[in-house]
Amino acid sequence: MARLFTSVKIVIELSTVDVMKTNTQSKTTKNKNQDKLYSQPREAISSFVFDESVVKVFEDMIGRSVPGYATLLSMFPVLTHVFIQPDSRCYDLGCSLGAATLAIQQGIKVEGVEIIALDNSLAMVEKCQTLTSEHKSQAKVSVKLADICESEITNASLVVMNFTMQFVQKEAREPLINKIYSGLNTGGAFVLSEKIKCSNSREQDRLTALHHDFKKANGYSDLEISQKRSALENVLIAETVEQHVYRLKQAGFSEVLVWFQCFNFVSFLAIK
Ligand SMILES: C[S@@+](CC[C@H](N)C(=O)[O-])C[C@H]1O[C@@H](n2cnc3c(N)ncnc32)[C@H](O)[C@@H]1O
Repeated sequence: MARLFTSVKIVIELSTVDVMKTNTQSKTTKNKNQDKLYSQPREAISSFVFDESVVKVFEDMIGRSVPGYATLLSMFPVLTHVFIQPDSRCYDLGCSLGAATLAIQQGIKVEGVEIIALDNSLAMVEKCQTLTSEHKSQAKVSVKLADICESEITNASLVVMNFTMQFVQKEAREPLINKIYSGLNTGGAFVLSEKIKCSNSREQDRLTALHHDFKKANGYSDLEISQKRSALENVLIAETVEQHVYRLKQAGFSEVLVWFQCFNFVSFLAIK
């Protein structure tokens, strides 16, 4: 019964967070932090990087570009509550501004947890340190500048990788997942959220069109959508659900499932 009450409390907290997020998003679309990076025609489109210009508009960019992003994040406290173990670590790999870290914090109701948030963009890490330090947390939060492919993962009960694997070199993905598996405690979970592609071309076209309609409904022009797509070419390498599931199972995870999907954005839950 005590567990039920805790769960209900989390859901109530989430509703507040969702309302706050929605308000924040509608405000940011009207202010200087609105993403207009690709609104003017560019002669040449360079490859997308997570630099200072992206950091300034990132909250608005991800909210208006990733369908289901706020809903997905709002479930992290629930997942955290289920999988977090006392005296263990929680990793947020490719943390950007720490949105997942902040959501995970809300689900931690046990003692001795440390959240380690890693990113290899200095501009992201600096802003993430400021933002996360503004929130009180039962867990210790350490935000570090690091390449997740080179970092140690130990004593983990939860590892979250929210839309970051797609930016990791393809050949580095298998060793990274194997390292995550090794670093997780038995019963621990890996949450992997990704933009996916479909092996069926009709499904691929349908989901791509729906994603573009989502972006247009959020105020992006056709020019912005097409220039951003060019910038992400060869930078964001999406894989199919089957490829992800196969790799996770190969690593040894005993349970692998899709727990969330919105158009071509999917989140996997892999349990050790
Ligand atoms: C789409 S963003 C992640 C969004 C974030 N997880 C969230 O939920 O809001 C991808 C992030 O991964 C970081 N990144 C990409 N490759 C990385 C690597 N090898 N090591 C560390 N961070 C990486 C980028 O700098 C960027 O901040």
